[in-house]
Amino acid sequence: MSKFKEINPTEITQSPFEMIGKDWLLLSAGNKESFNTMTVSWGGVGVLWNKNVVFTFIRPQRYTLGFVEKEDYFTLSGFGKDFRKELAFCGAKSGRDVDKAKETGLTPNFDENAPYFDEAKIVLVCKKLYKQNFAPECFTDESLDNANYAAKDYHKMFIGEIVKVLVKE
Ligand SMILES: Cc1cc2nc3c(=O)[nH]c(=O)nc-3n(C[C@H](O)[C@H](O)[C@H](O)COP(=O)(O)O)c2cc1C
Repeated sequence: MSKFKEINPTEITQSPFEMIGKDWLLLSAGNKESFNTMTVSWGGVGVLWNKNVVFTFIRPQRYTLGFVEKEDYFTLSGFGKDFRKELAFCGAKSGRDVDKAKETGLTPNFDENAPYFDEAKIVLVCKKLYKQNFAPECFTDESLDNANYAAKDYHKMFIGEIVKVLVKE
């Protein structure tokens, strides 16, 4: 089984712009009986309420949303460029129709009862703190609303405290 070691969030060396925007992440939630994962490339890491946090944005039609809503924890798994094909798959197919772990061969593991993947290079285990839907009246640049939400499928933002960072030894 893959070996991870725990580090402090402040020891993460990779640029978040690269880790999230370029390499993409798998956002996973659920439990050993039932879980789901999806690719995300929008999000952030930072500091809020004196805690190290992640910001993640989930559209209402994602199957993963129900799992994140239900559970206290979720994870973000980073793989680098080696797993592009698998992440593209998890970002194109829905867990309503396919078993993504089975189809990609990725190996699920659990921490705080939240799923992550053994093949990951880095895993952020996050405890939910806050959730809020984007709303049309809140855009100060309305062109973003028009460009991204023709279907009015506004993202729901989740802020999670990074309670554990696992990296490959
Ligand atoms: C590179 C990439 C990044 C994505 N980022 C997000 C995101 O940040 N938020 C989101 O709601 N969907 C995002 N998606 C779309 C979901 O990953 C996709 O709809 C997925 O099939 C949802 O799976 P699910 O229905 O099993 O939850 C992204 C897709 C790709 C390919």
